[in-house]
Amino acid sequence: MKQRIFSGVQPSGTPTIGNYIGAMRGFVELQDDYEAVYCVVNQHAITVPQDPKVLRENTKSLTALYLAMGIDPSKSIIFKQSDVPAHSQAAWLIQCNLGLGELERMTQYKDKAAKQESIGAGLLTYPALMVGDIILYDAEFVPVGDDQRQHIELTRDFVDRFNSRFGNGNDILVKPEGLYPDHGARVMSLQDPSSKMSKSDSNVKGFISLLDTPKQITKKIKSAVTDSIGEVNYDKENQPAVSNLLDIYSSLSMRDIDDIVSEYQGTGYGAFKSDLADLTVATIEPIQERYNQLMAGDEVEDIIRDGAVRANEIASITLEKMEKAMGIR
Ligand code: TYM
Repeated sequence: MKQRIFSGVQPSGTPTIGNYIGAMRGFVELQDDYEAVYCVVNQHAITVPQDPKVLRENTKSLTALYLAMGIDPSKSIIFKQSDVPAHSQAAWLIQCNLGLGELERMTQYKDKAAKQESIGAGLLTYPALMVGDIILYDAEFVPVGDDQRQHIELTRDFVDRFNSRFGNGNDILVKPEGLYPDHGARVMSLQDPSSKMSKSDSNVKGFISLLDTPKQITKKIKSAVTDSIGEVNYDKENQPAVSNLLDIYSSLSMRDIDDIVSEYQGTGYGAFKSDLADLTVATIEPIQERYNQLMAGDEVEDIIRDGAVRANEIASITLEKMEKAMGIR
């Protein structure tokens, strides 16, 4: 039997090349070797204010992007989080077994809370929902970018705690491991190499969205900040912006960084940026073609409906086990 993996992406905007390199591309590669479950985590997105109409559109659009990238619904389960009630039910059980201090220490909470005028309680308890996403499917591996490391560690701690509190010597829940890419686990903003590339960045020049036009992509890469050194080097300390572009280049081309650095010796940044723009467009264009076809038909809705049935079957079994162990069923 294949081992199971689980991962999710928030429909809080269109995914960026950071989401793609850090996590989503791996989803496609992994589906042949694992029993994969991929979720559009729309309940995570509402931890910060969302326009309901836009959220609904983004949810469909993200599902279409999963498919357009190559996730195959005959191999993997693709579903929408809110279609499986076990997620919010498990989140409550999990919250009751997590400490307030543990949640307050999450750096994503601190970062996002700093950007909000009023902070919803869901922003704090969000990791409980994420722990639930993973454990409900008995996932052994979770492909994610570097920014999710702390949440994965929390999930592992939670599983140990739950099993020892309620397992009577048996492991009720499976302890997962994060899977992080070697390069591109943390793609940085094109405008500020000290901050992570994010789909919700108010400066749209900082990220490349998977639905940007070739012209926009080229413009954004050409206007990415660099430095005054003028040499393509991989030196995260002194040339963080160029090193970030090299990470993107290496990830998309599957070439070694050293090989790319030697190709651009003495050429300055112009040729390097122009080739990176071409490479990015060549990666994204075929995805967009399939995406546009999918958005024009009914297939996406059918796949979401089918995914909900398959996901519910698995998740409800784990939820029942948790409830029984805790004495509420
Ligand atoms: P989200 O929607 O912010 O990001 C989706 C995935 O993309 C990765 N990622 C990045 N990787 C490299 N560089 C970046 N700049 C970058 N930005 C984002 C993220 O690490 C993530 O893997 N909490 C999660 C969604 C989630 C989830 C889950 C993931 C909810 N439940 C269960 C795995 C398992 C999030 O906000 O991802």
